[in-house]
Amino acid sequence: MRRGVKRKPKKKSNFGLDRNMYQPVIRAARISEVDLLHELIRSESFRPVGDDWKGFLLYIPKPQLKSYVEGGRFLVLDQDNEAVGCVFPDEYDDIMELRSLVVIPKYRNNGFAEYLIDAVKQIARDKGYSEVYTLTRTPRVFEKYGFVLAEDRPLQKVVKDCLSCPRYENCDEITMMARLK
Ligand SMILES: CC(C)(COP(=O)(O)OP(=O)(O)OC[C@H]1O[C@@H](n2cnc3c(N)ncnc32)[C@H](O)[C@@H]1OP(=O)(O)O)[C@@H](O)C(=O)NCCC(=O)NCCS
Repeated sequence: MRRGVKRKPKKKSNFGLDRNMYQPVIRAARISEVDLLHELIRSESFRPVGDDWKGFLLYIPKPQLKSYVEGGRFLVLDQDNEAVGCVFPDEYDDIMELRSLVVIPKYRNNGFAEYLIDAVKQIARDKGYSEVYTLTRTPRVFEKYGFVLAEDRPLQKVVKDCLSCPRYENCDEITMMARLK
């Protein structure tokens, strides 16, 4: 899948990208990238540190991740034929959920998250969804890209993932949603 979107220029760019000209390439992750993606997700996953928790994502075990990649369901942002960020548009029981949004640290603050978020929104639109949900500890990032607080966390999400999440009892993730036009 390739998506070309023209963007407003962003003030800062570590790579001197001209965002008027930059054509992001979002594609399905390759099997050869499973290790890289697994490590990327693992490094940002919830983990207990003393009495606190660090991390931003629900961990995905490698076999499960591999099955998502094999199904062509896991997306990456490609820069010079390398995955520099990922996102997982998860779909279940009439819900589209944006999950596992990560940009490799050295590529952050270039607006790459926006391209990945927009790709998920576009997939949701194409499939006839009217909204996309996400659970996050970093609401600011999603607010910036059109998400608002959701009234409720979808029950299907709670049953599918939250009940088995190590943070279930002390969850501080915020449920957000983007309405699609
Ligand atoms: C969040 C993340 C995907 C953003 O990627 P990115 O390509 O750097 O995003 P953008 O350049 O589009 O936007 C970066 C903005 O997000 C903000 N941001 C990033 N991480 C943040 C955090 N933990 N808390 C609050 N804001 C954060 C930056 O300050 C910046 O805001 P600004 O432009 O107003 O200064 C990236 O920082 C990342 O991979 N973080 C670890 C995993 C994660 O938190 N995923 C999202 C939760 S589901």
